[in-house]
Amino acid sequence: MTVPLKHSNPITVDVALGDRTYDIVVGREVLPSLGARIAALRPGTRTAIVTDRTVAKHWLEPTEASLAAAGIPSSRIIVAEGEGSKSYAGLTEVSEALIAAKIERSDLVIALGGGVVGDLAGFAASILRRGVDFVQVPTSLLAQVDSSVGGKTGINSPQGKNLIGAFHQPVLVIADTSVLDTLSPRQFRAGYAEVAKYGVLGDEAFFTWLEANHADIVSGGAAREHAIATSCRAKAAIVSRDERETGERALLNLGHTFGHALEAATGFSDRLFHGEGVAIGMVLAAEFSASLGMIAQADAARVKRHLAAVGLPTGLQDIGGFAQEGLADADALMALMAQDKKVKRGKLTFILLEAVGRAVIARDVEPAPVRDFLKAKLAGN
Ligand code: GLY
Repeated sequence: MTVPLKHSNPITVDVALGDRTYDIVVGREVLPSLGARIAALRPGTRTAIVTDRTVAKHWLEPTEASLAAAGIPSSRIIVAEGEGSKSYAGLTEVSEALIAAKIERSDLVIALGGGVVGDLAGFAASILRRGVDFVQVPTSLLAQVDSSVGGKTGINSPQGKNLIGAFHQPVLVIADTSVLDTLSPRQFRAGYAEVAKYGVLGDEAFFTWLEANHADIVSGGAAREHAIATSCRAKAAIVSRDERETGERALLNLGHTFGHALEAATGFSDRLFHGEGVAIGMVLAAEFSASLGMIAQADAARVKRHLAAVGLPTGLQDIGGFAQEGLADADALMALMAQDKKVKRGKLTFILLEAVGRAVIARDVEPAPVRDFLKAKLAGN
């Protein structure tokens, strides 16, 4: 694969869904084009921007300026940052603010932020006046390559993550790669786990390219646009074929069965970002695949080596305080996995590997070999 040498013109990735087809526009400094793109897509529309306090500090004014330059009226709704806003209370706050802003059926909600804002604003749009269109302007790497694409929106229930929600596709996604410059290195790396995931699950050549180019992606070089556009293209292809996750969309959950259990074990807190849980989960999925004889140990080691080279955690022992707090217990982790949406009648669904670049959905996995595998990992084997 050729490494792009210069920042390219914006790259447009199509999410092909019939009359709900939309563009993801990826590029450095594409945010200023937001207003003109919306004016072309939806002449005469009014907008409400939903964002959080941290993102607002950096990106609200440029977003409003772009809309104003295109003659598009906008109002702003600013929520507290963090997972706490993805709640019934957060949904009430945003819905009432959208009604107060007089957002009507033909208007647009703009989600400006990371995964929390995108999920919350998208879900509020899906139920406001029985459905208003929305635009995603993702400002984290994780949101640019995963949560802003594909139409999953929702909030958390006190009983679990993302249990209340709707499929509601955006009408446009603007992924400005320069906004990622304000992310902390740790947040950026967490998002990178989802980029690597596309290579591991379906594109060995992309994984090889990532092994060679990850430093340029992190530093904001031209490889960043290429990596984000390739990730979006991979997700768009899967979503186009299986929007409602009745089949292959489940492949996107690679690393998530183990990862969600680890996130739950650490209280969905800053101790383990979602992408970090996915990184460890992906290594565990690869090692579990190797333990079942599906791939060579060397393949699992290759996945681990790359994620470690980027600075991501790759093992249970990398989670701070894990052993001391009694979380390093295979039965406790099994119990957390049993609460996952991916469980049916006691059997687990895992995304396993047949090769680096070829994942498969393994339904009906018996708990016993998973428990034995986790015991061995916890013992440091
Ligand atoms: N994040 C996985 C999906 O959108 O299906």
